[in-house]
Amino acid sequence: MQAINFSYLAHKSLRMFIPDLKGLEPEDYESEEIEAICTECGGNTHGGWKYKLQGDNEWREYDSSKDGLCLDCSSRKSFEEEMKQNKIRYRESFMNRYWFIPTDLENAGFKTYERRNNITTNAANTCIAYVKEFQKGKPEERHNLLLMGNPGTGKSHLSVAVARTLREVGFLVGFITTGKLLALIKDTYNRDSDRSENDILEDIKKFDLLVLDDLGAEQGNKDEFSWTRKTLFEIINSRLGKPTIYTTNFNDSNIAEAVGERIASRLYVKSKFIDLFTDDYRKKLRVI
Ligand SMILES: Nc1ncnc2c1ncn2[C@@H]1O[C@H](COP(=O)(O)OP(=O)(O)O)[C@@H](O)[C@H]1O
Ligand SMILES: [Mg+2]
Ligand SMILES: [Zn+2]
Repeated sequence: MQAINFSYLAHKSLRMFIPDLKGLEPEDYESEEIEAICTECGGNTHGGWKYKLQGDNEWREYDSSKDGLCLDCSSRKSFEEEMKQNKIRYRESFMNRYWFIPTDLENAGFKTYERRNNITTNAANTCIAYVKEFQKGKPEERHNLLLMGNPGTGKSHLSVAVARTLREVGFLVGFITTGKLLALIKDTYNRDSDRSENDILEDIKKFDLLVLDDLGAEQGNKDEFSWTRKTLFEIINSRLGKPTIYTTNFNDSNIAEAVGERIASRLYVKSKFIDLFTDDYRKKLRVI
């Protein structure tokens, strides 16, 4: 049996893919494999081909500028890259499950927030400072924000601005009204739900920052009163030690009545307070 000469086979096959060698016979050129060192593991690897046409003095190179990785390292790297992309996709879809920006606030940012008076100016400045602190401070030193004020004064607007800015720099951020979050929990009671109430509570623990918008507006009907309070308490408890932004139309003197004493007192722990008791911005937009 005749041994197969692989290096001759390789030499011959170069005519198939090196344009200079197209149509030539194997005797018309010389060839050598270029050996390279894998830049990752230092092992020998294929570094392309060099060839010399009959009558030429110079060697030419083909495919010699590879990524410099051996097959093993190259496939490991692309696997790692794929895992990284999967992780990013998973993170995004996780966040989007708790990302409900109201349509009129889709473009809400610090730039679009008018500083109409001292109150709105202070509120915006406190939020901007909050974003800065969030990024440079230690995680355990981060605060909560409690935005209180009458409707239409920009509490949600400023919270969206904070949430979006921090999400864009890579933090895991959620934005949801307490009413919507309670509805998501209620959905898990459906027989065909594949998630449990506890799954949701575990999810919301994970966020670096969670905005709980419009606290106090979630009151369902009378039958649900105690369930709502109990569940709201569990939600707020699950965020203990993790920064949370609360917005509410209630104030210091009626918040306890709206959400219950236990919840109300939790809101002030480690919180920076933002007062937005000023006139409704939407009234400015009236035609007459
Ligand atoms: N100071 C402001 N500058 C610009 N737009 C504002 C300002 N305050 C409120 N708005 C706009 O008015 C509307 C109501 O504000 P919103 O933040 O939803 O009020 P709320 O305090 O009730 O959460 C939004 O469209 C918001 O963008
Ligand atoms: Mg609001
Ligand atoms: Zn290698």
